[in-house]
Amino acid sequence: MPADLCESRERGGDGALLDSTKLETVSLAHLALTNPRGLAGLEPLFERTHGGGARNPGWLPIKLKRECVDLNASCVVRAPSAGDRDPTWLGFALVGTPPSLAPCARMSGMGVVPRYRGRGLARRMLAHIQGALPSTHDKLRCLSEPRNRSMYAHLGFQESHHIATLLHFGAGSNTALADPLDARPGRGEIIAQWLDETWVHSPVESKRLWETEDGRAYLTREGCSLLVHRFELADTSEIERGALILDQLRASVERDTPVLVYGWPDDPDALRSVERRGWQVAQRACVMVRGY
Ligand SMILES: CC(C)(COP(=O)(O)OP(=O)(O)OC[C@H]1O[C@@H](n2cnc3c(N)ncnc32)[C@H](O)[C@@H]1OP(=O)(O)O)[C@@H](O)C(=O)NCCC(=O)NCCS
Repeated sequence: MPADLCESRERGGDGALLDSTKLETVSLAHLALTNPRGLAGLEPLFERTHGGGARNPGWLPIKLKRECVDLNASCVVRAPSAGDRDPTWLGFALVGTPPSLAPCARMSGMGVVPRYRGRGLARRMLAHIQGALPSTHDKLRCLSEPRNRSMYAHLGFQESHHIATLLHFGAGSNTALADPLDARPGRGEIIAQWLDETWVHSPVESKRLWETEDGRAYLTREGCSLLVHRFELADTSEIERGALILDQLRASVERDTPVLVYGWPDDPDALRSVERRGWQVAQRACVMVRGY
């Protein structure tokens, strides 16, 4: 939907902004059941709140599955005049309940369209989530970019730890990675990890494994890049050793292929060890947790 059309729909007949006290917060499961277009409005909404960046076709269903998004606990904010057939959504919060984090639920993305920011919609969605979480879950965790940390702190979240996404490029002549079904039983120390579930629920054709005597990386192909979901060392958690073994991984990947490592510890020693080998920090985030 063109942005100007979206904006005109967010205005009342007299051109005034809709009164945010009259907006509805409804769960995505409810919308998926009543709205014939299902969750089709979510992709353009995500792009409006988070920017149109390079996402691969079909990214949203993959995201929902990988991150164990619970539609009953997730919500959108909807303008009151909108019918189910053509809803105007002004904000959303996706919440996952991956078993590996229980009893903590996990925010998989929250956004409010720019015109409606600062009017209490994020606070309202967090209150909705509190009432919608399964009784097995009494905490919510989110990944905050540096610019949102003070807002999440204001909303009752506390800092847990910091992680970085690393970027470097393949240095080999071709990409020769094994089929994950050939993996030997798990061993060693986990140095960097997204979630168990994100790798388990990734499309099988995208999964690859890299393994030596010293370490192992669980990867998926994401467009033209390779993403390391989990990086293990065989007998040590020594970060210097990990940085060295990441160089061996790069040597198994075709030259110039972007290699991303998710969940690298964001502390000065851990970052120095990879930055001196040419890795860049593509993104930093703070894991923040709030109890209910
Ligand atoms: C982050 C975002 C979802 C916030 O939504 P919002 O509806 O504007 O937030 P709210 O108006 O509900 O604000 C929530 C509270 O945080 C406070 N707040 C907002 N920014 C703050 C900041 N930088 N520091 C401290 N408090 C802040 C608000 O004053 C409000 O507090 P109050 O209810 O006590 O007055 C919205 O800005 C957005 O979509 N940003 C782009 C996408 C994004 O960054 N998403 C989050 C990570 S995935």
